[in-house]
Amino acid sequence: MDKFEFPKDFYWGAATSAHQVEGNNHNDWSEWEKATNHPVSGRACDHYNRFREDFDIAKSLSHNAHRFSIEWSRIEPEEGKWDEKEITHYQEVINALRERGIEPFVTLWHWTLPLWVAKQGGWENKKTISDFARYCEKVTQSIQGIKFWITLNEPDFYARNSYLFGFRPPQKKSFFKFLKVFFHLIKAHKISYTIIKKIGGFAGISQNNFYFNLFLNKTNKQQDFIGVNYYKYWNRGRIKNDMDWSIYPKGLYYVLRGLKKFNKPIYITENGLADAKDEKRLSFIKEHIKWIAQAIKEGADVRGYLYWSLLDNFEWDKGFYPRFGLVEMDYTTMKRIIRSSSFNYKKIIEENSVEL
Ligand code: BGC
Repeated sequence: MDKFEFPKDFYWGAATSAHQVEGNNHNDWSEWEKATNHPVSGRACDHYNRFREDFDIAKSLSHNAHRFSIEWSRIEPEEGKWDEKEITHYQEVINALRERGIEPFVTLWHWTLPLWVAKQGGWENKKTISDFARYCEKVTQSIQGIKFWITLNEPDFYARNSYLFGFRPPQKKSFFKFLKVFFHLIKAHKISYTIIKKIGGFAGISQNNFYFNLFLNKTNKQQDFIGVNYYKYWNRGRIKNDMDWSIYPKGLYYVLRGLKKFNKPIYITENGLADAKDEKRLSFIKEHIKWIAQAIKEGADVRGYLYWSLLDNFEWDKGFYPRFGLVEMDYTTMKRIIRSSSFNYKKIIEENSVEL
């Protein structure tokens, strides 16, 4: 068997997003949860208060990178009014990661909007682009120690789910609105890219593999790297996760191969599965890492792998039943229990290699 050694400075870790783990967010999603019959995020993982404990776990698992998102509604709860206490909070989050030798990958927008932005029409309104730019300006100027920035998480997926299929807020079903939102998001990315470059950061988008090329062709010049979120490949793969999604690790290899033409560094910014019993997670992680290794061997410039997710968390309209975490959450006691597959992932990280 062949052993593949990953580059020495390869990033290994996990990812989360604010609304899914922090708890007590007040944004368009929290309002929608209450107003409709959907699960309520509530305290989520109380990560807002327990981030140090969670990063201790990540460190104990040998992670050297961590992706999380900043919650716009905390930073700017009212139009033009900055909450300095929240800015300090996220600075403390960055410091806590750095103190543990973990490189932060910071997402500026992972699907949730401050209420005042939602009220003005969210991403349907052109004004939201300049509002977002001002928020980026504020964050990049006031929070120190961030090198890697993800401007937007899966913008096309968001536009599709919220404006075309309409099963997530604001639940619109219009092709015209879908396109409008999509193009506004592209513009927002381009402007925030320029803002991030002013402070010498590296910026990219995290993309769900389905719509890659369509989007990337439009933003290629304004991406220092490509963020890949990979879960499934159409409907290939017989084995399913708890959400009935097919598991098909080789699909990641196809995605990476397809991205080679863009000539950019690639970070896997999400890859994971809902598996409450932790029966399939180890082989899921191993197989995906093997196919990443194969893609690197064939010239794909992959520089990091962030498993989704560090913790079980609030899976949007599906609520808390999907269990994606390397760490199991007891939502009653808020106790964190490290799943056994996480220790195997730790071993891969420490060896920095995989058997092909
Ligand atoms: C999203 C995450 C989500 C994951 C699993 C990704 O598309 O970025 O927020 O939890 O999929 O559904």
